[in-house]
Parts: sequence; C-alpha cells; structure tokens
Amino acid sequence: MVEAANILDVKGLEAWYGESHILHGVDFSVRRGEVVTLLGRNGAGKTTTLKSIMGMVGKRKGSVTYEGTETVGLSSDRIARLGIAICPEERGIFASLDVRENLMLPPKIMAGGLDVDAILELFPNLRERMASQGTKLSGGEQQMLAIGRILRTGAKLLMLDEPTEGLAPVIIEQIGLTIKKLKDRGFTILLVEQNFRFASTVADRYYVMEHGQIIDTFANSELEANMEKLHAYLGV
Ligand SMILES: Nc1ncnc2c1ncn2[C@@H]1O[C@H](COP(=O)(O)OP(=O)(O)O)[C@@H](O)[C@H]1O
Ligand SMILES: [Mg+2]
Repeated sequence: MVEAANILDVKGLEAWYGESHILHGVDFSVRRGEVVTLLGRNGAGKTTTLKSIMGMVGKRKGSVTYEGTETVGLSSDRIARLGIAICPEERGIFASLDVRENLMLPPKIMAGGLDVDAILELFPNLRERMASQGTKLSGGEQQMLAIGRILRTGAKLLMLDEPTEGLAPVIIEQIGLTIKKLKDRGFTILLVEQNFRFASTVADRYYVMEHGQIIDTFANSELEANMEKLHAYLGV
C-alpha cells in the first residue's frame, strides 16, 4: 500500500467554547515531515485550531483525520495516544517542580519517544539547569523545557503554539535550529506564529487564518511574493 502523503487532514472543522462558535469550517492539511505554519491576527482562531485537533474544546464538528483515523469524537487522551502532542502558548511549566521532574511528567505513550539524554542534546542549555525549579527559569529555558517535554511521549506530530513569543532574538534563533533538527529527525510540525520572519526560517508552507477560517495558503518559496498581502492580513 502506498503511504498517504498527508499525516493530518482537517476538513470543515468547527469548534465551540460553550455557546461561542469560534471555528467556522477550517480546511488544511499537513504532509508527513513538513513544517506548516498557521499565521493570523490575534483572535483569528489559531490556538483554537490546535486545541480542536487535540480535542480540547467544548464541541467540534467536521473532520480531523490523523494517519487516516478520524479523531472528531475521540477524547484528548485517545488523540494523544495516536501520536499528537501540543506545546501550549502558556508553556505549562510546573513552578514547584525542577527541570528533570517537569521533563519526566508526560508519559511515554509510544515507541520513538526521546529519553532525557536525547532531549538534552537538543536543548543543551537545560543540562546545567536540571535541578532548578520551574520558577527560576528564564522564558527561553521554559520554552525549551516545554518543547523538550513533549518529545518524551513519542508523538510524531508536534503542535507548537507561538514558541518564540516574548523571547530574545538569540533564543529565537536556537528554537529555530531545534525545529530544523526535529524536522530532520522526521517529526512533523504544525506551528502557530505571529512572527513570520521567524517562521520563514523553518516553514515549508503557510496557512493564513481570519475569523475562524483559512483564507489563504502559500509555500515558503512564495513568501516574498505574498508579503504585501501578508502585511494586510496581519496588520503589521
Ligand atoms: N476559552 C475560551 N472561551 C471562549 N472564547 C474563547 C476562549 N479561548 C479563546 N476564545 C475566543 O476565540 C477566538 C479565537 O481565539 P484564539 O484561538 O485564541 O485565537 P489566536 O490564537 O489566533 O489568537 C477569540 O475571539 C477568543 O476571544
Ligand atoms: Mg493563540
């Protein structure tokens, strides 16, 4: 059998938080091994899209298939076990736990999960911080820990929500290098970014979101040609 090129197919995805209807038919796909970036203004629905894929919203309609398996209707726990992981915007580092304890929190759910040594190879800055409490970490260290932590699970599709937000340029560069290494290792990455200058250093393709829908898409090679439109979409 020929392996399907798409690892993720999102079709007509709608999502609600309680009574609030947030996603209005989101359509996009991610090929195996790609870095795909969702762009869009604040409030466009990027985070909600990642959460919906993970089953972390009130109600969903439409279709989200991962490796051909329909996940709308499955619990977040079941979805995680298929091999999808999310690194949330707020990072979720436990302040009272040290770096090692934070790293050990997510369970290994499938083969291919990285052990602590392999994670530290990707994030060498964390090595000398292993015994530091979550509260003592810089924003960059917290972000590296938040990404490193989900690599333990064995997930093959990593969803990273604004990993560069609020970080210094030198740290952003390191995160970019790590994303490239993860891609080289065969991970598929769905990235949410406001910073398309950063995104352009790692992304293969883009989708632009507005008001809970995808309104445009282009390849990284088409970024320059789309710059004027992008400035208008993003209001920058
Ligand atoms: N927990 C929630 N309950 C109700 N509305 C929410 C919740 N989270 C986000 N929203 C609303 O959903 C819309 C999309 O938000 P979000 O997906 O966070 O956008 P983005 O990540 O693109 O900035 C916004 O209007 C936001 O106010
Ligand atoms: Mg967001």
